[in-house]
Amino acid sequence: MKILVVGSGGREHAITWRLSQDDENHELYCAPGNAGTAQIATNVAVKAEDVEGIVCWAVENKPDLVVVGPEAPLVLGLVDALEAEGVKVFGPVAAGARMEGSKRFAKEVMLAANVPTGMAQVFKDPSAAKAALSSYGLPVVIKADGLAAGKGVVVAETASQAEAAIDDMLVGNKFGSAGSEVLIEEFLDGEECSILAMVDGERAVLLPSSQDHKRIFDGDKGPNTGGMGAYSPAPVVTDEMLPDIRDRIILPVIRELKKRGITYRGILYAGLMVTPRGGRVAQSGSLVNVVEFNARFGDPETEVVLPRLGGNFAKAMLHAACGCLSEDDIVVKPEMAATVIVASGGYPGAYEKGKAISGLDAAAAKGALVFHCGTAKPDKDFVTSGGRVLSVTGLGATLREAVDLAYAGVGEISFERAFYRRDIAHRAFDRT
Ligand code: AMP
Ligand code: GLY
Repeated sequence: MKILVVGSGGREHAITWRLSQDDENHELYCAPGNAGTAQIATNVAVKAEDVEGIVCWAVENKPDLVVVGPEAPLVLGLVDALEAEGVKVFGPVAAGARMEGSKRFAKEVMLAANVPTGMAQVFKDPSAAKAALSSYGLPVVIKADGLAAGKGVVVAETASQAEAAIDDMLVGNKFGSAGSEVLIEEFLDGEECSILAMVDGERAVLLPSSQDHKRIFDGDKGPNTGGMGAYSPAPVVTDEMLPDIRDRIILPVIRELKKRGITYRGILYAGLMVTPRGGRVAQSGSLVNVVEFNARFGDPETEVVLPRLGGNFAKAMLHAACGCLSEDDIVVKPEMAATVIVASGGYPGAYEKGKAISGLDAAAAKGALVFHCGTAKPDKDFVTSGGRVLSVTGLGATLREAVDLAYAGVGEISFERAFYRRDIAHRAFDRT
C-alpha cells in the first residue's frame, strides 16, 4: 500500500516504523516527518497543519491511506478535506475531533451518553465561576475549553488557586480564545491510564492499555510535559475492566456522535481515572471515569502500544477508515513495552537545539527501538531539534525486562544536557 503519515513526532515515527514491520511492503511517506522517519520513509516537505498542501499532495500522489497523527490538523478539518477528494483517511472528521478540541463538547456528549466522568459546569463569567466553586470542594479542577497545548488544566488545591486560574483564563486571556470558556470540574481521585480504541464509525477494538508519565521529574514532580515515558500494559486496568470500558465508555460515545450526524473513525483515546480501593468515589458512582478524550494516538503511548501489535497494521487502519473493522484486525503480542523519553535540558521550559546526538546505533544494537521525536539531520549527523528528542523503547517478556532494555538503550545515547526520568513504570512496580 502507498501510505502517507501526517506529523513529525515520536508518535509518527512509531506509526511509520510499525507500518514498515507489516509483512507486506508498503510505500511510506511522512509529511513533514523528521530525521527518524527519513530513514524508513520519504519525507514530504509539507507541514501537518497545511491542509491545502497535504490535499494537493494526496490528489497528485493518490495514496491508498493517509494516517493523521496530531490533533491540530484533525481539528482544522484535514480529514474532511481529504475525504472530499475521495482519499481514505485514518482519523476523525473535524466535528469528531471536537471530542478533543472542546472540553465542553466532550462533556455534553458524555452526559448525553451517560458516560461516567467528573461532574462539571461551564462558565464565561468569572464571578459566576467563582461563586460555583464552593459546591465542588477541594481540590477542584479548572479547565480551558479549547486546545491549550496540554497546559489548559489546573488542579487547584486551594480556593485562591482556583480563583487565580479562573481569572487567568477568563480575565487575563492566558489561552486566548481556547480559554474564553472554562469548565469547573469535580476532582477525580486515583491513578490514570490511557485506553486507545480503534474505531470504524460503529465498532471499536481496544488496543492494549498504557500509562504515561506527564511530569518532568522522578516521583511525578514538577511541571507537566507532553509525556516523559510510558509503558504497556498498565496493571491499573485489569482484564475485567476492558469490556466495561468498551461498552460503557467508548461505544456509547460513538453512538451519541452518530446520533448527532458524526461518523467517528480513527483513534478515540480515553484518558481514564481508576479509583483505588478505599479512594474517594466520584459523584458518577463509577470507579472508572473519563478525564479527557483525545482524537488521536497518544504520544508517547504510541511508542509502547504499537510495538506490541502483530498482524497487518495498515490493513487494520484501512478497515477502520472504510467502516469494516473487526476484532481479528488487532493482534496483541505477549511482550510488554516501556519507553523512556530523552529530552533537552530545560524542557518543558526554554531549551537549546542543534546538539549533536551520539550512540543511536549502539542503542539499536542493544535491541532498543529508538524513535525520533525532535531531531534533525542537517548533514551527516543527527542533532536535537525539540524539547522531547528521542523515545527509546524496550520490549521484554516482563515489564522489568522491557524497562531495563529501554534504559540500556538510553545509556548508549548522549547529547549535551540530555535529561530523562529514571523511574518509568514505577506505579506498576509499586504494586508488586
Ligand atoms: P487533561 O488535559 O484533561 O488531560 O488534563 C491534564 C491532567 O490534569 C490529567 O492528565 C490529570 O492528571 C489532571 N486532571 C484533569 N482533570 C482531572 C480531574 N477531574 N481530576 C483529577 N485530575 C484531573
Ligand atoms: N500522552 C498524552 C497525550 O498524548 O495526550
